[in-house]
Amino acid sequence: MSAAAETLPAVLYRDPAQWQAERRGVFAKAWQFFVHESAVAAPGAWAAETLAGFPLLVVRGHDGVLRGFHNVCRHRAGPLSDGEAGVCEAVLTCRYHGWTYTLDGRLRAARDFGPAEGFDPRDFGLLPIRVETWRGLVFVNIDLDASPLGPVVAPLERRLEGRDWNGLTVMLKRSHAMGCNWKTYVENYLEGYHVPAMHPGLDAEIDSARYEVEVEGRVVVHTAPLREPGAVYDGLWAWLWPNLGVNIYGQGLMLERMSPVGHDRTRLDYIYLMPAGETVAAETLAMSDQVVAEDIWIVERVQENLNAGVYETGRLSPRHEGAVAAFQAFVRDAVSPGP
Ligand code: FES
Ligand SMILES: [Fe+2]
Repeated sequence: MSAAAETLPAVLYRDPAQWQAERRGVFAKAWQFFVHESAVAAPGAWAAETLAGFPLLVVRGHDGVLRGFHNVCRHRAGPLSDGEAGVCEAVLTCRYHGWTYTLDGRLRAARDFGPAEGFDPRDFGLLPIRVETWRGLVFVNIDLDASPLGPVVAPLERRLEGRDWNGLTVMLKRSHAMGCNWKTYVENYLEGYHVPAMHPGLDAEIDSARYEVEVEGRVVVHTAPLREPGAVYDGLWAWLWPNLGVNIYGQGLMLERMSPVGHDRTRLDYIYLMPAGETVAAETLAMSDQVVAEDIWIVERVQENLNAGVYETGRLSPRHEGAVAAFQAFVRDAVSPGP
């Protein structure tokens, strides 16, 4: 019999200092899903997102290379974009005073700066981040020394053999704001233990008694046999450290990014990717909306209880909550001071 691991202390789900430690220890070091490559296909196309409080931008150069930068001007920290996506001509232009940068990040012109001794534009290029693409999904990493993305996604790649994601396009995007710490939501995603009690509709489709969760490296794979063929779900859900759900739907998929906004707020970004011209069936969307509403309701109630100060720690079921225990170990690891 395996031991029932103790949960992370409740204070780590409400402490602003822990959140700052996680921004540095988790989100400044991990590969994070940024955008689907179809959104930045053309030369000059850019996309901007704030992930865990880091405003970031990727842009495709006229040489075809996708590059990423902090979306922070080197003059007085203005943004290089307004909005989520667009196409620029030859340069990125800061919205504040109009400094311009080439698409490979060099400062091209400090507009009307005037003569200034000791100012060398070559020292004021945009701060770069890493960019890699896997199966059409563009990932970024703030850590310039991070190891490559390939080995991180390898356990998932092995399970996706025979599934072709070429030619997928973004069919639909939705976001939901949640009043909870990001870990509260992630942990809910990482177990199927709550399915019978919380999701009667989903429970009717899948065989919850045979719900399995496997952890391999930093990937978690859930499988649950369908009660009947033709059910809405494919029965395969995956998750990638620290905050990406990959839900497989027949020929397409739904990405679920659990984006922390602060210590007490999280945004769920849903992106449905489908073969061009195909749509997700209305009943699939309805089921997904229902499950999301049920999950948001429960994680917000759990967060209130974690905030109340009566609950300190609990125990995790070895049968059902192995992935939650693994996740909590990854978090402990990422924020503990190194040797
Ligand atoms: S902050 Fe960008 S030009 Fe001033
Ligand atoms: Fe759920």
